[in-house]
Amino acid sequence: SRPEAGGEASPEKLLAPVLSAFWDQPESWTLETYRRHEGYEGLRKALAMPPDDVIAYVKDSGLRGRGGAGFPTGMKWQFIPQGDGKPHYLVVNADESEPGTCKDIPLLFANPHSLIEGIVIACHAIRSHHAFIYLRGEVVPVLRRLHEAVREAYAAGFLGKNILGSGLDLDVIVHAGAGAYICGEETALLDSLEGLRGQPRLRPPFPAVAGLYACPTVVNNVESIASVPAIMNRGKDWFRSMGSEKSPGFTLYSLSGHVARPGQYEAPLGITLRQLLDMSGGMRRGHRLKFWTPGGSSTPMFTDEHLDVPLDYEGVGAAGSMLGTKALQCFDETTCVVRAVTRWTEFYAHESCGKCTPCREGTYWLVQLLRDIEAGKGELGDLDKIDDIADNINGKSFCALGDGAASPIFSSLKYFREEYEQHITGKGCPFDPAKSTLWG
Ligand code: NAI
Ligand code: SF4
Repeated sequence: SRPEAGGEASPEKLLAPVLSAFWDQPESWTLETYRRHEGYEGLRKALAMPPDDVIAYVKDSGLRGRGGAGFPTGMKWQFIPQGDGKPHYLVVNADESEPGTCKDIPLLFANPHSLIEGIVIACHAIRSHHAFIYLRGEVVPVLRRLHEAVREAYAAGFLGKNILGSGLDLDVIVHAGAGAYICGEETALLDSLEGLRGQPRLRPPFPAVAGLYACPTVVNNVESIASVPAIMNRGKDWFRSMGSEKSPGFTLYSLSGHVARPGQYEAPLGITLRQLLDMSGGMRRGHRLKFWTPGGSSTPMFTDEHLDVPLDYEGVGAAGSMLGTKALQCFDETTCVVRAVTRWTEFYAHESCGKCTPCREGTYWLVQLLRDIEAGKGELGDLDKIDDIADNINGKSFCALGDGAASPIFSSLKYFREEYEQHITGKGCPFDPAKSTLWG
C-alpha cells in the first residue's frame, strides 16, 4: 500500500523503513546481515544494464539529493562528460554537521553496506574507478565500522577488480575530515581531500566539470547514494509510489529537541511535522510547540502555525523556508528564541571560514549584538542593526554558510520580534533560567 504524503494516513502507515529496516537487529552492520535483506541484489541488476541506462533509471525514479539542496541525483550523474579521457570520481559527502542533522552518521553506523552498494552502482553509471568517502572525523566508531565494511566488501568481490565478473574495477577510500563545518560544502570538501585548507571554490565550474584533481566528479550525500540499491532492486515505480510527485520516495528525518522520542524516523517525503509528532509521541509531556526548523538551523524557522506544511521541497518552499537536511528541531514554550538564535549564530561565527567579508565580519557582529540583547544591554535600534547585517550577509556571501547564518535572524524577527523587544525594554531575558532549557 502507498504510504501517503499529506494529512490522511495513520501514523503506522507512514513508516517506510528501507534504509533503517533492520537497524535494530544484532550486527546489522555486517555483510551477512545485509545480504539477508536483499543486500547487493540491486547491484546485480545495475551491472547487467549499460551505464547510461542506470543513469536514466535513477533519473526516472525522481530521487533528489538528500544532503539539503534536493538536486536530482540522476541529472547530476548525467552531467559527467563521457569519452573525455579524464578519470571520473565519486565523492560521498559524509561530513554531516548541520545543527540538528543526525541521519547519515546513524545510517553508516547501522547499515554501511547500503552506502557501499550504492557507491558501486553509481561508479558503474558514471564510469568511475575511484570513490572517496569523506567522513566527519569526530565519529571514530563510525570510521572503524566503515573501514570494516569496505574490507568485507573487497573480500566478497563487491569492490576491487572485475566486480561480480562485470569488468568494473573500483577502489574505495575512506577519509576522515578534521571537524570543520565548512568542509561539508562540496568544493571545500574537495580542497580538503586534496590536502589543502578547506575553503569553498568559486562555482561554476561545478564539480561535475572540474572537481577532485580538476577532473569530473560527482559529490553526493550518504543518504542519496544509500537509497539507490533499493531503487534498482525494487524498481523506480515502487520508489515513486511514496512521497509526492516532485519529491518522491522515502527519507530519513532527524527529530530532536523538546519531543517525547527524539531520533531518526524513516517516512515518505511530503508528510507533515504533525504526523511525525504523532509517530514519535508528540512534544514532551505538558508542553507545546513554539518554533521549529524544517532542515536544521540554516533553514528559516517555522512556528506551530506550520504543523501541516508538507515536508517536501515544494511544500516547505511555498511556506517560506527550505527542506534542507530534514532536521526537525522542535522547541517548546520554555525556550527563549533570542537565546536559541544567539547559540546558532555563535556556531556560524565559529565555523565561518573567513574567506569573504560579509560572513566573516557579519557573523562576528551579530553575535556581539545578540549577546547584548539576551543580557538586557540592547537598544531597540539593535533590531534594525541585526536585520541590516543579516541582509548584508544573505546572498552577498561566497557560499551557503552565509545565507544559513542570516536565516534564523530573519525568521525569528518575523515571528518573534516582540520577544526581542521584551528583552530590551525589560532589560533582560524574560525566561526563567530554571525552566528555560534548550534541550530539556
Ligand atoms: P546547490 O543547490 O548550489 O547545489 C546542489 C548540488 O547540485 C551540488 O552538488 C552542485 O554541484 C550541483 N549543481 C547545481 N547546479 C549545477 C549545475 N548547473 N551543473 C552541475 N551541477 C550543479 O547547493 P549546495 O550549496 O551544494 O548545498 C546547500 C545545501 O546544503 C543547503 O540546502 C543545506 O541544507 C545543505 N547543508 C547540509 C549540511 C549537512 O550537514 N548535510 C550542512 C550544511 C548545509
Ligand atoms: Fe567562508 Fe562564510 Fe564566505 Fe562561506 S560565506 S566562503 S564560510 S566566509
